[in-house]
Amino acid sequence: MLNGKNVILGISASIAAYKSAFLCRELIKKGANVKVLMTPDSAQFVTPLTFSTLSKNPVYSTYANAATGEWNNHVALAKWADLFLLAPATQNTIAKMANGVCDNLLLATYFSMGNQVYFAPAMDFDMFKHAANQVNIKKLQSYGNVLIPAEHGELASGLVGEGRMAEISNILKAIEQKDSFWANKKVMVTAGPTHEAIDPVRFIGNRSSGKMGYALANQLEQRGAEVYLISGPNHLSDPKVFQHIKVISADDMKEACLDLFSEMDVTIMAAAVADFTPKMFANQKIKKESTKKLSIELKSTNDILKKLGEIKKPHQRLIGFALETHNELENAKGKLKRKNLDMIVLNSLKNEGAGFENDTNQITILDTKNKQKDFELKSKDKVAEDILNFIQNEW
Ligand code: CTP
Repeated sequence: MLNGKNVILGISASIAAYKSAFLCRELIKKGANVKVLMTPDSAQFVTPLTFSTLSKNPVYSTYANAATGEWNNHVALAKWADLFLLAPATQNTIAKMANGVCDNLLLATYFSMGNQVYFAPAMDFDMFKHAANQVNIKKLQSYGNVLIPAEHGELASGLVGEGRMAEISNILKAIEQKDSFWANKKVMVTAGPTHEAIDPVRFIGNRSSGKMGYALANQLEQRGAEVYLISGPNHLSDPKVFQHIKVISADDMKEACLDLFSEMDVTIMAAAVADFTPKMFANQKIKKESTKKLSIELKSTNDILKKLGEIKKPHQRLIGFALETHNELENAKGKLKRKNLDMIVLNSLKNEGAGFENDTNQITILDTKNKQKDFELKSKDKVAEDILNFIQNEW
């Protein structure tokens, strides 16, 4: 799971930093690309040269390279990283991360991270159990960071107790297990528009490109899920997924979804299913001459998501999308409840660059625990990552 991942290994000033040299080597053995960030004081325990030799990358500690004056860009570092692992995490650095203090490059990079952050505390027993430290650890967890618990054993002071940095094998296991959240999970994703036939050559459709659903399917596949993609007509090239079912109409999509749903662990309905379909289908092409004034009578389609919400079992997770033009939050919250969803992804057409046809999207995620998270405008691939990260952090 770490193969090909870009990892920032953060080192703060604890004697456990010497173990991080081994951690760096193990990460590289597993195929990760590692860049090491050190707090200025941590260099008293291990030299930057140790880490630059092991990681084969420059080690960053200050905002600018003293020799060249070049800026060490914390934003670029954070954007590069698929994950940030702070090991060892000292009481001081934990406190700063928990309380928004940003007085070195490692912290500035942490505050710029969009992807998952892990931290492995290391400190003496009394410091570790101090109420202030425990509150800060909880705060960090509440921001979505993953705690790799300190272990019990002999400490640098000679005391025995909790506070040792987790063993290297346990740190790696914690990351790989978290990353393997999707492994063996069956996930159904719907994508694209549906086309509702008027006659053999004409249809009613919408502007959905299918890009959001395909980005989700790709990202799920990369994370090891068994992906069932149900897509309406679109012009995208076929992604590599476990099963890809192509449908045309809302009714076809409903049948395909209902066939699979009972076996799914997670279902994400990204498709823009048509809400209306012609009441009558003309078997032959409607000729211009045959009618002077043509009106097409429409009927409602079945709401697939609502139906799935009605038959959902307690272990199943159901995620819907809400595309809104006004009263966005209120409407999305209404859909979350009405359709018995676990989570809803809201995109507003008021935001430029969001919604149909674009390569970018801007979303807000709402869930049944009243959690609301706003994201900035980004590529649909990155949005897919945000959605999946949210799911795995919450469940
Ligand atoms: N959806 C569905 N079946 C339909 C219509 C919509 O499963 N016939 C799903 C979409 O895949 C999406 C969610 O319902 O996940 C919300 O779609 P949206 O068009 O925003 O809302 P609607 O429920 O159709 O309500 P309205 O059009 O009134 O906003």
